[in-house]
Amino acid sequence: MVTPLKLALGLAVAALVACGEAERVGEAQPESPTAEVADVSTPPAAAAALTALPPDVPDGVTLERIAEGEAIFLGDGLCYVCHGVDGAGERGVGADLTDDVWWHSDGSHPSIARQVASGVGADRVRNALGAAMPPLGGSDIDAGQVEAVAAYVWSLRLR
Ligand code: HEC
Repeated sequence: MVTPLKLALGLAVAALVACGEAERVGEAQPESPTAEVADVSTPPAAAAALTALPPDVPDGVTLERIAEGEAIFLGDGLCYVCHGVDGAGERGVGADLTDDVWWHSDGSHPSIARQVASGVGADRVRNALGAAMPPLGGSDIDAGQVEAVAAYVWSLRLR
């Protein structure tokens, strides 16, 4: 679901990421209070924090890795722009990552990581707009960050 607040937060974070464009976006969004824009310097809390993992977690998935991945999802990875701050999918573009349905991988941690690295080509997407996911979501995160953000995506179904 897209609320004006989420949209404003998304735009504000995107502007901060774009380095120095916050003021311009601020002008384009006169209805968003300054306080909200200030808040996004710390990433918004997305899904409820996990305090424990089930016994059968895949290799490479730890609470620390998941927390690191959440910060990437909401920051450098730009994932929230299309998938929403809660991972449930934004504007019918990015897929819902909180359910157990995996269109573009088998849902395992390594296959999610591979798919995030390569994106989803326009010929394979299922959304009505035909919007694609560029490799790395268009970000410049490195291989370690891909592993971490994939751990976070993998963990969303546990909440
Ligand atoms: C420019 C928009 C955009 C960005 C940014 C983006 N994605 Fe995506 N993502 C998509 C689209 C579009 C799809 C395919 C949805 C479909 O098939 O309709 C997708 C699919 C996915 C899937 C597959 C879901 C499934 O059901 O198999 C995962 C996982 C995913 N994205 C994770 C990420 C992560 C992690 C990031 C950040 C590094 C990210 N995405 C950034 C648009 C985006």
